[in-house]
Amino acid sequence: MKGIILAGGSGTRLYPMTYAGNKHLMPLFNKPMIYYSLSVLMLSKIKEVLIISTPEALPAYEKLFGNGDQLGINISYAGQAEPKGLAEAFIIGEEFIGDDSVCLILGDNIVYGSGLTGILEKSYENIENNGGAIVFGQYVNDPHRYGVLEFDKNKKVTKVIEKPENPPSNYAVIGLYYYDNDVINISKSIKPSGRGELEITDVNNVYLDKNKLDVELFPRGIAWFDAGTHESFLDASNYIHAIEKRMSLMVGCIEEIAYKNKWISKKQLLKLAKPLLKTEYGKYLERISNE
Ligand code: G1P
Repeated sequence: MKGIILAGGSGTRLYPMTYAGNKHLMPLFNKPMIYYSLSVLMLSKIKEVLIISTPEALPAYEKLFGNGDQLGINISYAGQAEPKGLAEAFIIGEEFIGDDSVCLILGDNIVYGSGLTGILEKSYENIENNGGAIVFGQYVNDPHRYGVLEFDKNKKVTKVIEKPENPPSNYAVIGLYYYDNDVINISKSIKPSGRGELEITDVNNVYLDKNKLDVELFPRGIAWFDAGTHESFLDASNYIHAIEKRMSLMVGCIEEIAYKNKWISKKQLLKLAKPLLKTEYGKYLERISNE
């Protein structure tokens, strides 16, 4: 399975923060936002990752991650000149995906909590063995900002509706999606929506109509944030700060995940820690290398 992080867009909902810089490079507490989405792919055990961003922002991502070697993974890059929708990721990434299945995560989505790694690993296995698609629903108090699940009276999902004025439920579809290889052709077959974008929601409805969409509702222990507005950005930062301070562990620490997945050695971890030793981040890496 391949992984794609979509980190493009103009970040208009975060202006003026994002006038001059790409949203997904902005720090959430102590690390660039994109660390959190990359960490979710790495927890899924995905080792081949494509980062899609604006052509102007790509050099900064390349500076941040290089080819991914230092994390024991493979990172490549592609440009999305205009924000033409999330589903365009599969058209831009067609060659990268090849004959494989794919997991897409939006660079501004932060998922954290108990049991998450198990859910991610299971989703990976399910798609590899059975094909189809898997999406996740989370109860929120502002569903109109998202793709929203509609249920029938037997609690079966009947439709996904993008940013409805009158949401049929409080369940938002989060920005983490697992697909089989059909997603490439499905993305090519859908038409742009009213806002001129190839909507991921339309892709999900195609899978749903074919009875191939598995919708999993997140349990209580899992928190999901999208850092897409000033307030949700601050909420996500505060949440991460509170967890890291109280629990003395890091959220979205890609070096730790690489080490615990045994993709890098203790020596390699300590090399990554070295330039960071003036920070708690670096000291944390040093600490876990001794555990
Ligand atoms: C996108 C999707 C939406 C999904 C959301 C999750 O919205 O279109 O279905 O619920 O991500 O963050 P956008 O961020 O493009 O407004």
